[in-house]
Amino acid sequence: MAKRILAFPDGFLWGVATAAHQNEGNNTHNDFWAWEQIPGHVVDGSTSGLACDWWNRAEEDLDRAAALGLNTLRMSVEWSRLEPRPGVWDSAAFDRYREMLKGLQARGLEPMVTLHHFTNPIWLAERGGWANQDVVSLFERYAAKVVATLGDLCQVWCTINEPNIYATHAYVLGKWSPGEKDLLKAIRVTRNQVKAHAAVYRAIHRLQPKAQVGIVKHMAAFDPANPDSAADRWVAAIRDTLFHWRFMDAVIEGRLKFPFGFGIGRYAPAIHSNDFIGLNYYGRHPLRFDPSSPGTLFAGETQVPSEIAWPEPWTDREIYPAGLHRFLTLLTTYDKPLYVTENGIADGGDEIRPGFLLTHLAALHRAIRRGVDVRGYYYWTLVDNYEWVEGWTTPFGLIALDPATQGRTPRRSAELYAEVVRANAITEEMVEKYAPQVVNQVFAEPV
Ligand code: FCB
Repeated sequence: MAKRILAFPDGFLWGVATAAHQNEGNNTHNDFWAWEQIPGHVVDGSTSGLACDWWNRAEEDLDRAAALGLNTLRMSVEWSRLEPRPGVWDSAAFDRYREMLKGLQARGLEPMVTLHHFTNPIWLAERGGWANQDVVSLFERYAAKVVATLGDLCQVWCTINEPNIYATHAYVLGKWSPGEKDLLKAIRVTRNQVKAHAAVYRAIHRLQPKAQVGIVKHMAAFDPANPDSAADRWVAAIRDTLFHWRFMDAVIEGRLKFPFGFGIGRYAPAIHSNDFIGLNYYGRHPLRFDPSSPGTLFAGETQVPSEIAWPEPWTDREIYPAGLHRFLTLLTTYDKPLYVTENGIADGGDEIRPGFLLTHLAALHRAIRRGVDVRGYYYWTLVDNYEWVEGWTTPFGLIALDPATQGRTPRRSAELYAEVVRANAITEEMVEKYAPQVVNQVFAEPV
């Protein structure tokens, strides 16, 4: 029998995603750096320190990305470096980003640049950060400066990375700076994010009419732990509605609507403020009704059976490629080109990653076959990097990093990804070689 193959469209973008604070090192002027220094905040007690030392030698990793055959790379620029004090711009930092972006282009890596990836200048945090509505004009001023200065080297901009993850971790769960647990404040933060996104979209288009600007949205499959339980179904549906669709509707319609009859007005003329939508997808979270958790709207996490669970510490997350297909399909409702701007797994031993990669790419391919306009895929991430409050405990990289020595060791998945990218396809031989156990899943017909 002829070997099977899943071919991707010509010109499909293959990349990796990174973020400034997680890769650059010594981002001493932002609120996350300050947060990491306080014992108890980061699970392994580590700090980002030199991270992957990209501020000094990103180019070595850009060589590695190019050697894998990639044609794009998603990175972010660090607000606190570029504007270390309000209204004061650091030209040396802009120069360094120019150099990096030129480095990408010289290697055939089309840049996708994120303007806000979780971190804030300390001066902004001191003014109340994203809970203070001044952030809207401050973020717009910063974004306009970045695009005016670096726009000749980049055309594709992500405004805010995972707004809801940021609002939830920083203002509901209290796990990230400023460590608050205040749902109403989180709603205020979200409102400011919607306004800021819309303002930045318009500012970028004024400066660069042909720019492609979009939001990057994290989506996790929130499903009832027990589908027969009405209470579990209810909490999962609420989480899905609030976390995913209310925000997406808001950045499309300019209005944050909540399901309990309180709309918050039309405050951002945000209609059509996306040229594309970026989807970050990692897995499924089965939720159960938990009467003791009003702060999370009565949703409790569950332990996922170990055969399908993520490795420690995220064992409440299930490996679930069908979720990627689900969200790509649902997002077509907004009628915009889509990118998978992040997808990956923390798997130091690289035992799960090859199958994870192949089954998720197959799910993406299935969406494309059904007519979904997906333009590119960015694996998170190239080299193990500093993972917020998980510190160094979650190795997501295609390439392993020893932060103490800065030594890099490619994992087998790097080789696999390079084969996929070069072929612009998944072949049956690749699946047999790297993860034979998923062959049926990869070549399953679309349902
Ligand atoms: C996403 C973040 C990214 C990284 C990955 C693992 O939620 O955007 O910075 O932390 O998860």
